[in-house]
Amino acid sequence: MTPERGALISGNWKMNENHFEALKLVQELAALLLAGSIPRGREVSLHPPFTSLRTVQTAVETDNVPVLLGAQNCHFEDRGAYTGEVSAEMLARLNVRYVICGHSERRQYFDETDEIVRKKIEAIFRNGMRPIVCVGETLAERESGDALKKVCGQVRAALGGLRADAIASAVVAYEPIWAIGTGETATDADAQQMCAAVREEVSQFSKSSAEAIRIQYGGSVTPDNAAGLLGGSDVDGFLVGGASLDAARFVEIVRAGA
Ligand code: PGA
Repeated sequence: MTPERGALISGNWKMNENHFEALKLVQELAALLLAGSIPRGREVSLHPPFTSLRTVQTAVETDNVPVLLGAQNCHFEDRGAYTGEVSAEMLARLNVRYVICGHSERRQYFDETDEIVRKKIEAIFRNGMRPIVCVGETLAERESGDALKKVCGQVRAALGGLRADAIASAVVAYEPIWAIGTGETATDADAQQMCAAVREEVSQFSKSSAEAIRIQYGGSVTPDNAAGLLGGSDVDGFLVGGASLDAARFVEIVRAGA
């Protein structure tokens, strides 16, 4: 993490917290965050399920809680005959600022390809929001020495050829798939090495954006490992799953290393 970029700590609630539970969680978070400070230059985003977005938005805006609203997914068209889908345009109307896209769970269970992820990223930008683009390798890819190739390919497919100012405003979340929800975390050195490789890949197609783009680490981040991971100069925050469902643990991560 560098002070110039500032860190983004994002809570990915996944398919947890109906709107009653979401209200309770955001109120607990609000009490903790408003009772103390968020380290200078750090941003926090919350990514509830679609059905809880409006509840969280209202709670956050009513009390000026210093968090930004996020979503976990969107469709790439703004409207139309896509039964069951939610568009980026609809999310923007709820003051959503960050949209996670290409999470490995969506790539794995919902067959999201690099092409689909790219179209979603374009829809997110078109509607004035920022994508949090997830990339990461499987255990087999890591063991066979293909981690860098996989991750750099995903980064290029997601962002290559976009306008430099758009790339600079994007966030990439490096999430090794073997570390998600497993309690296994990349070492501080591995997380730093992979985040540096992502930045290097971005510099190949957009030199000016590479210094500005924020690169998160994700995969079993906890209050115990957060400060060490944030020590990496290319690790600009976290995408937090499990630990974001516990207000006290999440706030400890928000304040880690400060
Ligand atoms: P985890 O999930 O923190 O529970 O490992 C991270 C993620 O999937 O974004």
